[in-house]
Amino acid sequence: MWRQSEILHQGAEAIVISGYWMGDKSVLKIRNPRSYRHPDLDRRLTRQRLSVEVRALTKLHSSTISCPSLLDVDIDNGWILLSYIDGETLYESLLSGSSGFEQIRDLGRLIRELHELGISHGDLTTHNIMINQEGDLSLIDFGLSKIIPEIEQLGLDLQVLNECLNASHHEYEGAIEVLIEGYLSSHNNFLPSGDEVIGRFNAIRGRVRYHA
Ligand SMILES: Nc1ncnc2c1ncn2[C@@H]1O[C@H](COP(=O)(O)OP(=O)(O)O)[C@@H](O)[C@H]1O
Ligand SMILES: [Mg+2]
Repeated sequence: MWRQSEILHQGAEAIVISGYWMGDKSVLKIRNPRSYRHPDLDRRLTRQRLSVEVRALTKLHSSTISCPSLLDVDIDNGWILLSYIDGETLYESLLSGSSGFEQIRDLGRLIRELHELGISHGDLTTHNIMINQEGDLSLIDFGLSKIIPEIEQLGLDLQVLNECLNASHHEYEGAIEVLIEGYLSSHNNFLPSGDEVIGRFNAIRGRVRYHA
């Protein structure tokens, strides 16, 4: 059923392998055991992050947000099988100059759509956002997401991205302001409102600056 092709990513927490499942290009994401943790704690964390990812992807499946489809899952053995998303990470795309401010504005709108569904991502770096040839954005890596998040978690999504833009994409000066424009341009029929989330984000980045 599963034919492996190549290792896409070997991270501290997971290994991601591309391959074919019943003929369709897919990715197998296996959570690594972390040797420094107690095995019981480790198993609990692995199960927790996988089931969080499964729940978010299931909820997103019936939405307009592009993300991998869930093909199979084995929580006990620590893996999930996802559909393959074509393209490259936004990280690579911004670095090569294939993407720019236009995609950053689109991303702001997309994050607001995610938040309006009542989901925070939890790890919104440009490595967890994919972009294809047509410039369509997809979100991946929902292991730290929250369903029905607090406003703080919504603000933190923007702060994680802000820190990532500053650290890795500083040549796009003012990117976070463009992102906020996009965030506020999305339809606004969910509470907390876009303005409230941006207010919280500004408070968080003020706190960070103060302590830096
Ligand atoms: N569904 C997918 N389609 C294509 N590439 C993927 C997919 N899922 C993950 N990847 C690639 O593997 C990398 C790591 O996957 P990710 O889910 O972010 O795991 P981690 O928790 O280790 O960060 C991503 O940055 C991306 O390059
Ligand atoms: Mg990731």
